[in-house]
Amino acid sequence: MLVDFEKISSHERYKLLTAAVVPRPIALVSTLAPDGSVNAAPFSFFNVFSEDPALAVLGLQHAPDGSIKDTTRHILDTGEFVINLVDHPLADAMVVCAARLPANASEIEAAGLTVAASHHVRPPRIAQAPVSLECRTWEIRQITPTRHLAIGEIVALNARDGLIDPDTLYFDMNVYEPIGRLVANSYCHTGDRFELKVPSYPEDFPTTSPSPHPVSNQTSTKAKP
Ligand SMILES: Cc1cc2nc3c(=O)[nH]c(=O)nc-3n(C[C@H](O)[C@H](O)[C@H](O)COP(=O)(O)O)c2cc1C
Repeated sequence: MLVDFEKISSHERYKLLTAAVVPRPIALVSTLAPDGSVNAAPFSFFNVFSEDPALAVLGLQHAPDGSIKDTTRHILDTGEFVINLVDHPLADAMVVCAARLPANASEIEAAGLTVAASHHVRPPRIAQAPVSLECRTWEIRQITPTRHLAIGEIVALNARDGLIDPDTLYFDMNVYEPIGRLVANSYCHTGDRFELKVPSYPEDFPTTSPSPHPVSNQTSTKAKP
């Protein structure tokens, strides 16, 4: 089946893309409002794209009523934001932060979350997040009348104690288990893992001529039962 993106609606493209590209990581983005209050909202049109410079990108759509979302407004105003990664214990609070609450209500309070000071940017991080990335805006661009793309330069990473070995900087992936967003309201754990090594040529290839089917010498194991 071929779907021609020029012949379908944006809603249909959304349905297809958010089902095809899964799981997506979730950025629970904390930003600072002009009155000093802290805003938090989840975004799964999100990923990191490079390490030099260290860049993360957010796809920020306008609200259904056409208004610009608080997160977008605050990033435009302050040039700073924090991307908090989401694990299972944080999942319920994360969805509360997506709710459209009355203007004066704090999502962070409603979600039972607390904040902790960041080191290099003014918006605080979410204290319960396993990992937080402090970002300064590299570029924010309105790409259509209803959407911005924000590119942030990550200037610091905060990790919960015990997640990263301070000597090697390796994450303990048996402890770090961010959730991923599947389509609509479904999510997945990331604990079911396996190892796969890129084969070396010619050692791992069966004949002298390059083959598209290298000899498999991989062992697949689940990280957890
Ligand atoms: C898991 C999840 C992922 C989301 N991803 C996005 C996204 O990538 N872009 C977007 O514009 N809204 C996304 N939303 C919706 C926003 O979180 C929601 O509109 C929120 O109320 C915006 O809050 P704000 O006005 O405080 O910025 C997502 C919601 C959830 C629950």
